Amino acid sequence: MESMIIEGEQRLAGSVRIGGAKNAALPILAATLLGNGSCTLSNVPRVVDVFTMSKLLAHLGARVESNGDLTTVSVDEISSCRAPYELVKTMRASVLVLGPLLARHGEAFVALPGGCAIGARPINLHLTALELMGAEITIEHGNVHARVLGRLRGAQIYFDVSTVTGTENIMMAACLADGTTVIENAAREPEVADLAQFLITRGARISGAGTDMITIQGVPALHGADHEIIPDRIETATYLVAGAITKGDVTVERCRPDHSDALLAKLREAGAELMIEKETIRIRAPERLGCVNVKTLPYPGFPTDIQAQMMALMAVAQGSSMITETVFESRFMHVLELQRMGAEIRIDGNHAVVTGVKRLSGAPVMASDLRASACLILAGLAAEGETRVGRVYHLDRGYEQLDQKLVGLGARVRRAPERP
Ligand code: EPZ
Repeated sequence: MESMIIEGEQRLAGSVRIGGAKNAALPILAATLLGNGSCTLSNVPRVVDVFTMSKLLAHLGARVESNGDLTTVSVDEISSCRAPYELVKTMRASVLVLGPLLARHGEAFVALPGGCAIGARPINLHLTALELMGAEITIEHGNVHARVLGRLRGAQIYFDVSTVTGTENIMMAACLADGTTVIENAAREPEVADLAQFLITRGARISGAGTDMITIQGVPALHGADHEIIPDRIETATYLVAGAITKGDVTVERCRPDHSDALLAKLREAGAELMIEKETIRIRAPERLGCVNVKTLPYPGFPTDIQAQMMALMAVAQGSSMITETVFESRFMHVLELQRMGAEIRIDGNHAVVTGVKRLSGAPVMASDLRASACLILAGLAAEGETRVGRVYHLDRGYEQLDQKLVGLGARVRRAPERP
């Protein structure tokens, strides 16, 4: 295992290019299962979760070729409909093959993802919706076994909770169903809209993606298509916070400012200077930012995937901030580690009250999940002295070359074998 070692108090300056969105690439890769024909995807992030999804597709019978940020997938036939626990346990998003396998092949065995550091993350809403579409679902030996005789049928689906991969699973399954499916209280994330765009290019009939009501009219088959993955709004946020927390001057390039409204509003409220153009955002921060309150919500609200990074920034802001996590029930694992670095944070249920300190102090800390890892690295950039972030494999699941990109901005960051 590796650690990331950060020498703090280096002001970041310069430009960094944003890669493709992991959370768009994963459902779009799963969607290649829905039909024959070759699909060439560009701007695919080279991150571990994408490699895992590619491995899973190959296991199911797909031909997957990657070359740089291009990935070409063709699925002439499904040779297996089993997503094994060995793969699913490393990546919950494997559940995204459930809908496509059912729609294309009529049967799927997908291991239940099990627990996660940030919450229980059940998939009950996915399964109930698929049953409404005619699937028979049983849970046996830790696997979801889903099957349908003939084709799935269109249905009226209402999600009690806005679920991103639940919306994506049903949208994919509905593409090949008999009749029309309407998803109400659908997730509105840009990654859902990007998946819909890919499916439409392949011949699907979808309207309303990006809103909370999506209508899908089933078609007999989908053909191949090329598609460019949208930029990663969470990666964008991470580098903007890196610029702010080091009182730097950072420009993120090839991003989608229109996907980051909630974050940009909060950074402005905190006193950062933002210069925004079509595909770039430049941030300059004063000596010390002011505190702001944050409440995570489904898109277009403040993203839960940026909560930890924002907490690192508020830990050195002037005054006290209230950070409320409403999406996941235990997404404060990074608090204990930030406290080791001198952060003053008090947790009260799903609220964290952060009282900014003048300076954090570098310390050995432990990453617990993907976004917590980023939070601790950001805190290390601002802290006095050296910070060692352990279990940095979490980071590699969703960030491409984060250390190299930070070094390119002037940070002193390197990898080292984990100390015993
Ligand atoms: C997606 O996860 C993202 N992952 C997550 O990003 C992100 O944090 C999350 O959406 C919320 O935005 C991918 O897109 C691959 P949900 P997902 O279903 O779909 C509850 C990252 O760091 N729920 O929208 O799994 C659930 O427990 C990752 O990149 C049910 O109760 O999240 C949660 O409280 C972390 N039953 C809430 O809904 C269900 O059947 C939102 O979860 C499904 C969800």
